Amino acid sequence: MAMTGISPRPGILDIIPYVGGKAHVEGVSNTVKLSSNENPWGASEQARQAFRALSGNLHIYPASDHGTLRTAIAETCGLDGNRIICSNGSDELIAFLCHAYAGAGDDVLCTEHGFSMYGICARACGATPVHARETDRHTDVDALLAAITPATRLIFVANPNNPTGTLIEAAELGRLAAGLPPECLLVIDGAYAEFLDTYDDHIALIENHDNVFMIRTFSKIYGLGALRVGWGYGSAAVIDVLNRIRGPFNVNAAAQAAAEAALRDTRFVEKCRTRNAELRRFLTDGLRRLGLACDTSYGNFVLARFADEAEADGANEALGLAGLIVRQVKGYGFPEGLRITVGKGADCGRVLAVLREFLGK
Ligand SMILES: Cc1ncc(COP(=O)(O)O)c(C=O)c1O
Repeated sequence: MAMTGISPRPGILDIIPYVGGKAHVEGVSNTVKLSSNENPWGASEQARQAFRALSGNLHIYPASDHGTLRTAIAETCGLDGNRIICSNGSDELIAFLCHAYAGAGDDVLCTEHGFSMYGICARACGATPVHARETDRHTDVDALLAAITPATRLIFVANPNNPTGTLIEAAELGRLAAGLPPECLLVIDGAYAEFLDTYDDHIALIENHDNVFMIRTFSKIYGLGALRVGWGYGSAAVIDVLNRIRGPFNVNAAAQAAAEAALRDTRFVEKCRTRNAELRRFLTDGLRRLGLACDTSYGNFVLARFADEAEADGANEALGLAGLIVRQVKGYGFPEGLRITVGKGADCGRVLAVLREFLGK
């Protein structure tokens, strides 16, 4: 590449670009995508109707305050709508938080196998990502507390975590919040919160600590990954800061309308939660019966650990040739792992059948 006098800010060229879940396998048709933790049942019919209804108004700018959507979130989750911010996917909130609170010389802390966007967004604003060890693939609050230094500005903890699927008790997050220096902002990422039967949405924690923030997404149980809608909840001061740096029309009108309808279709969400839990159990039990190590997952995916990297590569290839696309997680420190989204029943059954044959069981 020709050299020019233009160079990006320090940190940017250290970013390893995000690699999304594969959607195709060369030479294989009729594939099933189990690589991005999407909802196999799609989005609710009401959300799809709301999306279609927008097609007559494509010339109208979206609401820049996301007022109707914020009200729906506030009503459904019992929150103060003035302390909600909506975003173009929760990825955008991760970027806003790093942009607003971290920069050169600052650390952004997350866990050993934490979601890769935390590190990417940290580097994008010149900060340094720091990873605290996990214990048996679980977030370790003591390790996080020990890793905090005067340079730490942000701490991201996904609970349930991705790609491990593990969960820590709400009380543990309370212990983390209590141990934080006031200049550190703890971000609890609840991307998979809706898959839990009862999710402690940490409202009490957020009420008691101005430096605790929660992010959520419509990409997972609500099945709206294509539309890109996320939201966050925290102190009025943090919401004010984030609103100053977001674009006025960061969430498009169709996305706002569909997200609101999705949120209000609680029957669909409940159905997906129940079905996911049943099939997650079926998949986990089946994988364990094949001798594969799996932690109990609280999300809509299971991390299967093979004997070694070569076995995981072989299994990935065998699944791909059968049209089942799963996620390799080498970049997350699991060369021996494959993360498998909980699909429809028949697809979970096919995953197990292909692996049984591959492992010669
Ligand atoms: C833990 C976690 N946080 C955030 C996201 C970002 O989701 P989105 O930007 O689609 O809202 C994901 C997506 O996979 C995730 O797994």
